[in-house]
Amino acid sequence: MSNTNSSTLAIPEVGSIPQHIAVIMDGNGRWARKKLLPRIAGHRRGTDSVRSLVKSAIDLGIPYVTLFAFSSENWRRPADEVSMLMQLFLTVLKKEINRLHRHNIRLRVVGDVSQFDTPLQELIRSSEQLTEKNTQLTLTIAANYGGRWDVLQAFNRLMRECPEKIEQDISESDLTPYLSMGNIPEPDLFIRTGGEKRISNFLLWQLAYTELYFTDTLWPDFDEDSLKEAILSYQSRERRFGRTSEQVSQSSWPSISAAI
Ligand code: IPE
Ligand code: IPE
Ligand code: MG
Repeated sequence: MSNTNSSTLAIPEVGSIPQHIAVIMDGNGRWARKKLLPRIAGHRRGTDSVRSLVKSAIDLGIPYVTLFAFSSENWRRPADEVSMLMQLFLTVLKKEINRLHRHNIRLRVVGDVSQFDTPLQELIRSSEQLTEKNTQLTLTIAANYGGRWDVLQAFNRLMRECPEKIEQDISESDLTPYLSMGNIPEPDLFIRTGGEKRISNFLLWQLAYTELYFTDTLWPDFDEDSLKEAILSYQSRERRFGRTSEQVSQSSWPSISAAI
């Protein structure tokens, strides 16, 4: 993607750029309300922030971005909001998929998509197939996703595919390949916009050692500089993975998988 760098913040050093960023894109409704617009206007504007985030991630060399688009609890919203969100997902995916493909982006959708209408399910499947060999960035959309659902579906699949395990204690490494994102590194940085300080049933297992960053910025206002602020905060943290600070400064163990 072209770099129209309007940012005022310095680009952080490549070496300490998080490899995987997971985002709860919250605050669309409040953004709209502040402007006396219907909530859907906030969701629509939120898709511009997604585009901008993907572009910034590519510019910064971040290989994995995971976005929470619709939680398993969001079905509790008014029916017209749910149906407009589904329609928006369909329209945006149709409109953007070729562009994502041209930019060598792999799109994946995690969550229980079987609850979606057939046209949306088919579009998700064909978009994943079209982009499955792309290598620049893996963009994962969590849709009808819940962290508890993920752990349970992983456990159930493991039991179905390896019934002999029922007799034994299963280990973390038995289970992780069955998680929705079992084949990609766990997030280094979690960002939640919109001011709430909770996980809302997003990635429960995978966030075990992720650095958490909360901002009051509403998702439609989250721009390139907001991302860089989050990354600067990430860079100021010391990731200890249970060890002492002294051990960390002497250690050559930078990676989460090696550390845990
Ligand atoms: C997040 O924005 C988007 C979805 C959950 C789909 P919200 O719609 O939750 O916005 P607020 O929290 O009401 O402002
Ligand atoms: C979490 O946001 C889900 C998404 C951003 C898709 P919510 O706005 O639904 O979360 P709660 O209900 O306030 O915790
Ligand atoms: Mg919300």
